[in-house]
This record gives sequence, C-alpha cells and structure tokens, in this order.
Amino acid sequence: MYKNLIEMFKENEGKGAVGAFNVHCFEMVPAMVKAAADLNVPIILQTSLGTAEYIGFEPLIAAVKALAENVPVNVALHMDHCKDIDALKRAIDLGYSSVMYDGSSLPIEENIKNTKEVVAYAHAHGVSVEGEVGSIGGAEDGVVVDKDAAMYTKPEDALHFASEAGVDALAVSIGTTHGQYKSKAKINYELLEELKEKLGDTGLVLHGGTGVSDEDMRKCVREGMKKINVGTELNKSYIEVVSKTFTAEGVTPLTSLRGLLGPANDRIAAIVTEKASLFKLD
Ligand code: 13P
Repeated sequence: MYKNLIEMFKENEGKGAVGAFNVHCFEMVPAMVKAAADLNVPIILQTSLGTAEYIGFEPLIAAVKALAENVPVNVALHMDHCKDIDALKRAIDLGYSSVMYDGSSLPIEENIKNTKEVVAYAHAHGVSVEGEVGSIGGAEDGVVVDKDAAMYTKPEDALHFASEAGVDALAVSIGTTHGQYKSKAKINYELLEELKEKLGDTGLVLHGGTGVSDEDMRKCVREGMKKINVGTELNKSYIEVVSKTFTAEGVTPLTSLRGLLGPANDRIAAIVTEKASLFKLD
C-alpha cells in the first residue's frame, strides 16, 4: 500500500522505526520493496532531487506506486533534503507521498516560514513533511555541511520549530554525520531523551544511518526514533559489487547486463533486510 509518513507511523506504532533507504538508481527500487515485503515491514524509499531528475519523476513515482500496490506492506516515496520549494511542490503534484524541506542552514524563523509554506501545500495534497533543525554534518548527494557548521539540535528550537511549522517528522542532529562510512558516530542520548520529551508526537528522524553501529541503531529505536535513514552504505555496496562483476574474467560485450547487475541488486536487498531487522522492536 502506498502511504504517507503520518499513516505509516500510526500503523507502525509500538513496532519500532521505519527504515528510509536512499534510492541511487532505478534498479534498487524493486529490490528494496521486495526485501521489505519479505520481512513484512514498512519501507520508505527516498530520493534526492538529483536522483528524481535522473530517473524522471513520473516513471519513478509510477513504479513505486505499482510496486506498493502489489505488496502487503506500506511503502512511501519521500523526497530527501530538498531546499527548493518549487521542486517540492512539483514532487507533491506528481505523486510523492512525503517530502523533506531542509531549511537547516537558514535562520530558524526563515526555516519555519518556508517549512510552513511546504506543510500547507503538502497537507492539502495528503502528503507528509519532514523538517530539520540543527545541522547534520557531512556530505550526501549535493547536501554538504562542513564539519564546523554541523550543530546539535537545541531542544527548545526543536519544540518551537515543530509547533510553529507543523511538521510530521523532524530530523535532529544528535551526533550522526551523513556519509560516515569509515567510522561510527557517537550519539548524544541525553539530547535524544530531551528531544523526545519535548516533541511528543512529532516523529524523530535519525540521519546518517551508515555511520551508526548496530547496537546504537537498536538503542535509538528503543529510545523512540520513528524513521532511520540509510544512504551511503547502499551506494558504496552497489559500487563494490558492480566493480567486481563488470571486471570479472570472461565478461564481454555479449554478457548479459542483467546478470552483472543482479548481484548488486541482491546486495541492496540484503542491506535493507539487515537494517530493517534492527529497526523492529522485539
Ligand atoms: P548516510 O548516507 O550517512 O547513511 O545518511 C543517509 C541520510 O541521512 C539521508 O538523508
């Protein structure tokens, strides 16, 4: 079933966090949905604006909706970290079920004003909205935040932002970094606890999932995270696998391209299964 985050979070209440996996190319899409369906968990497929433009909004949305209608689990299509309000309105018009407006680099009042505009438009179309307060460091598909500019989310700012902007989900900066694939993040659980207390119903979102250890993933889920993003690990693993299959001995121009991509798609499915299993509460 094709859902927005509001419906998805409600139906997943008490069952843990929903995994949000960044789609880097079209081939990943069916593998991700199948893995979630096999595990019987909801899934959020998310794209950068760049990926949406690369695949094409219409074919991407049509494929996700068609796949979603044929599985017994909830599937959302979410636009990740977008600073362009017109592009978000286009995504909403064309059928994304959820969007993120990222105004985290702006002064908070400007962030609230812009996010509110997106929320009004999105909610009128049955689409959910994620916002961001504080600043998550690192680099991710065009979103680059210098280490020095990264900033923990202040609980009072998060409360002010969430109640004024009316977002359904809120990305918080609690120690994770986008694109951290060589080491693991140190999570500030005291801050997470404070944020959870202040924010009540707004679904907290953990970004930078690649750099989070399995133990911390489980702990974040137990502490109430509602959405956990994983991106770089999928990109990295796809490259690792295709680098091997494409350069294997005996590959010729007549070798089946599908046969060379299959192992990479299988790896994507395995990562979704592995991470989504960590996000389930026992
Ligand atoms: P990673 O690429 O570090 O897993 O982060 C993904 C993310 O947070 C997307 O917004």
